[in-house]
Amino acid sequence: MNKSVILVTGASAGIGRKCATHLASAGWTVIGASRRGTSSDSWRGVPMDVDRDRSVERAFEIVDAEYGQLNAVLACAGWGLAGAAERTSLEDAKAQFETNFWGAVRVVNATLPRLRERGGGHVVLMSSIAGILGIPYQAFYSASKFALEGYAESLAYEVAPFNVHVTLVEPGNFKTDFTAARRKVELSVNDPYRGACEKAITVMERDEVNGADPVDVARAVEKILRSKNPPRRVSVGKFDERMGIMGKRLLPFRLFERAAMSSLGV
Ligand SMILES: NC(=O)c1ccc[n+]([C@@H]2O[C@H](COP(=O)([O-])OP(=O)(O)OC[C@H]3O[C@@H](n4cnc5c(N)ncnc54)[C@H](OP(=O)(O)O)[C@@H]3O)[C@@H](O)[C@H]2O)c1
Repeated sequence: MNKSVILVTGASAGIGRKCATHLASAGWTVIGASRRGTSSDSWRGVPMDVDRDRSVERAFEIVDAEYGQLNAVLACAGWGLAGAAERTSLEDAKAQFETNFWGAVRVVNATLPRLRERGGGHVVLMSSIAGILGIPYQAFYSASKFALEGYAESLAYEVAPFNVHVTLVEPGNFKTDFTAARRKVELSVNDPYRGACEKAITVMERDEVNGADPVDVARAVEKILRSKNPPRRVSVGKFDERMGIMGKRLLPFRLFERAAMSSLGV
């Protein structure tokens, strides 16, 4: 029997790369997509810019021609935008959505007909703790992940009759290239947001640099892919981060906000 085939986006670095390598070692045939098109010893890379329709189509043409099947997709491609919401240009905010939200949608839309044709499969979307908790000075990053959460939750109902499972993975802070790749909105020296913004970004960068190993995310993804009935959401991270998600769901919101402020650096 052919091995199951998975396309992983964002495979050139960080979480996507760890997932690609881990899944290959677990027996999957992995195609790793990224703008750099990086390959590894255990999986093959294809170039794909998720911001561009044609680039996504071309990568799927390679999948069809060379593998002839697709059983799952893991959409990891993404980056972070930080800065005061009021000071962020719509151009920057839209660029954030173009990759983190519309990029995932492009990839899922290309995947679904292939999964339906084979009688089902898995769609796994890399959300974030920031898709559950609004993070100060990362408003548009959070918004792009909140959008992904709503999209995935709706999509899941539509594709369930085709035996397609949709799961959101919500990592806390993980040590990857994400921190260095983050785009930051410039603030003038006298900007009233400057002090608070710098403090919050310092706290978030410190937490990321001291973050967990993304292999934890890779193991969680493998478990999702092995499951015949995976959960809609899986949070992965340190205890206090998972408690934060739980707190948002269970506590009265004012109480939750007060408890969250210091860990968010505000
Ligand atoms: N690190 C964390 O703490 C954390 C926490 C929660 C969620 N996440 C999410 O996890 C995902 C991966 O992040 P990471 O931490 O692994 O960051 P990373 O190390 O910077 O990796 C980002 C990956 O996304 C790819 N990418 C970025 N823009 C792309 C585009 N337009 N088209 C195709 N690929 C693109 C990059 O490849 P190229 O540059 O080669 O295109 C790279 O492979 C993101 O969705 C992020 O929001 C991360």
